Amino acid sequence: MSYPYQIKSLEQYHQVYKESIEHPEKFWSDIAMHFRWKKHFDQVTSWNFKDPKVAWFQGGQLNITENCIDRWAEIQPDAPAIIWESNDPEEHHRILSFKELLFKVNQFAHVLKNNGAKKGDRICIYMPMVPELAIAVLACARIGAIHSVVFGGFSAQSIADRIIDAACNIVITADGGYRGNKEVPLKAVMDDALVRCDTVKRCIVLTRTRTPISMLKGRDCWWEDEIKKVETAGNPFCEAEAMDAEDPLFILYTSGSTGKPKGVVHACAGYMIYTNYTFVNVFQYQPGDIHFCTADIGWITGHSYIVYGPLSAGATSLMFEGIPTWPDAGRFWEIVDKYKVHILYTAPTAIRSLMSFGLDYIKDKNLSSLKVLGSVGEPINEEAWYWFHDHIGKGNCPIVDTWWQTETGGILISNLAGVTPSKPAHATLPLPGVQPILVDEQGNIIPGGDASQYQLPDATVSGNLCIKYPWPSIIRTTWGDHERCRTTYFSTYENLYFTGDGCLRDTDGNYRITGRVDDVLNVSGHRIGTAEVENAINMHTGVVESAIVGYPHDIKGQGIYAYVIFSGQLDDKNLVAQDINQTVSRIIGPIAKPDKIQFVSGLPKTRSGKIMRRILRKIAEGDTAHLGDTSTLLDPNIVEEIKLGRL
Ligand code: WT7
Repeated sequence: MSYPYQIKSLEQYHQVYKESIEHPEKFWSDIAMHFRWKKHFDQVTSWNFKDPKVAWFQGGQLNITENCIDRWAEIQPDAPAIIWESNDPEEHHRILSFKELLFKVNQFAHVLKNNGAKKGDRICIYMPMVPELAIAVLACARIGAIHSVVFGGFSAQSIADRIIDAACNIVITADGGYRGNKEVPLKAVMDDALVRCDTVKRCIVLTRTRTPISMLKGRDCWWEDEIKKVETAGNPFCEAEAMDAEDPLFILYTSGSTGKPKGVVHACAGYMIYTNYTFVNVFQYQPGDIHFCTADIGWITGHSYIVYGPLSAGATSLMFEGIPTWPDAGRFWEIVDKYKVHILYTAPTAIRSLMSFGLDYIKDKNLSSLKVLGSVGEPINEEAWYWFHDHIGKGNCPIVDTWWQTETGGILISNLAGVTPSKPAHATLPLPGVQPILVDEQGNIIPGGDASQYQLPDATVSGNLCIKYPWPSIIRTTWGDHERCRTTYFSTYENLYFTGDGCLRDTDGNYRITGRVDDVLNVSGHRIGTAEVENAINMHTGVVESAIVGYPHDIKGQGIYAYVIFSGQLDDKNLVAQDINQTVSRIIGPIAKPDKIQFVSGLPKTRSGKIMRRILRKIAEGDTAHLGDTSTLLDPNIVEEIKLGRL
């Protein structure tokens, strides 16, 4: 087995990139040949960014699970598809070969059908990181149901919002989950969510912690009982549904600068081909390698680089249920040694957190199996980059700094491990088929910022990062609200997809993402919308108004700083701050809790009532000397008060 489209040299990268820009349709259609189609496509792509309407491989029919499982179960049935490491280092690990995975996905596909699931239905999955989560995801894909995975850290409110938005008829959860020394009561949280969700007819519950839970007659059933019914019925094979290339594969909710999270929709064929292509090229996967992506399947990184990318390449994907610091800060390295991991793909926040524990947890580890290291989710600072490179990679492993988004489905800008050069803190070059371009606020093209023009800047240039040509896994719509998709991504600049990120490009053509330019925070690699957190804070009794901004945080990358106007009793500010945190946890989830809450008597506003976040951001960052002109504020005095009360 090898990958004919795997790029092997820098020279070849440049040549392939050029071809992909000059003849994108030929480029992608050649790659698409290497997949299993039920019906071949007639048209490689048709698109406009105005509506927007983007389609890839139209006329084609396929099922992603045949590409991820069946075709590998035929040629390498006993090769490990999923290796699972429990939260508890003492609990035995599990290995599912492609043959076993096929069997289990088929079984569970029957369970879904027996419970009324049909093609096009939306199914919400709220589960711990156990193999059954991957099985549930794949079983949905097998029958053509659209999965909507919700990260296990989200609150009942957040789950309910997502279930209602997508009108899910089935949910899949577990009694509970393990994370470090904590138990997460998943079913109880789901029960609270389901109070608001009339569309849900079935709740399938996997046994994991065997915590006592409520099981409602007529609605709730146990995963294991349903499997037994399938076993008694005989032949477990479940024919994979023929999906049109553009049929939705899944919805994944993500936060933006305004309103509630939106459901990003990805389509079957384009998503499959792009995640596979980028997996094989960025990580330079070789048959037999063990790929360990430390993300949770509840985020896009887990969808694309634990499940679909690796499995569609017949790769072995290691899935870890626990957290990097439990039982101690050596857990990742222990796992690397235990399974002789070749590729380790993690987040800068995890690296910085492990760095803070010193080298004690590394010195007794071998780590020599590692070939490639990867980073994702936020800019990686140089200190973390070098630590990862020197102490984990021992100077021998290329680091791929992969820039992408939930909306892009797969990696758009990254070096290719050991093939194209890395540069600390730089995502570097675009993947073939990807055409990044930098523009200024007005939408003017920054000279030297457009990779497809082969013109390098004379000095580093800076702008807002856009993409000017579609790639196969670009977002198709936001569920139930296409207009929101248009306004968010395609209306800021005409004919361009706008990423929301600021970016530099150096004289070698390397892109360096500098962070969001909109009101979106990136806290520990998680995307948090400022408006969403403010709305949650404002729900707390006594809160009149609030504003949140990000500030640099040693481990999280960005921390959340909240300014709150409070009308109630403030005798014990600390206690009230904790109450507000509880409110945010209830409404969104613990990941959105502010790190600092400053009580203020007013907020800096313009005469038209707009909050001057720039000023609040400067104060939170501690840069109180450069607040700029504050004379146009409604009440300039408020700035002095806020400066004095800074936490
Ligand atoms: C935002 C997308 C991509 C999967 C995980 C996050 C930031 C992502 C990098 C990187 C600098 C990065 C961007 C982007 N980001 N990767 N390598 N260097 N910034 O997905 O939750 O959709 O967030 O994460 O700001 O817009 P997401």
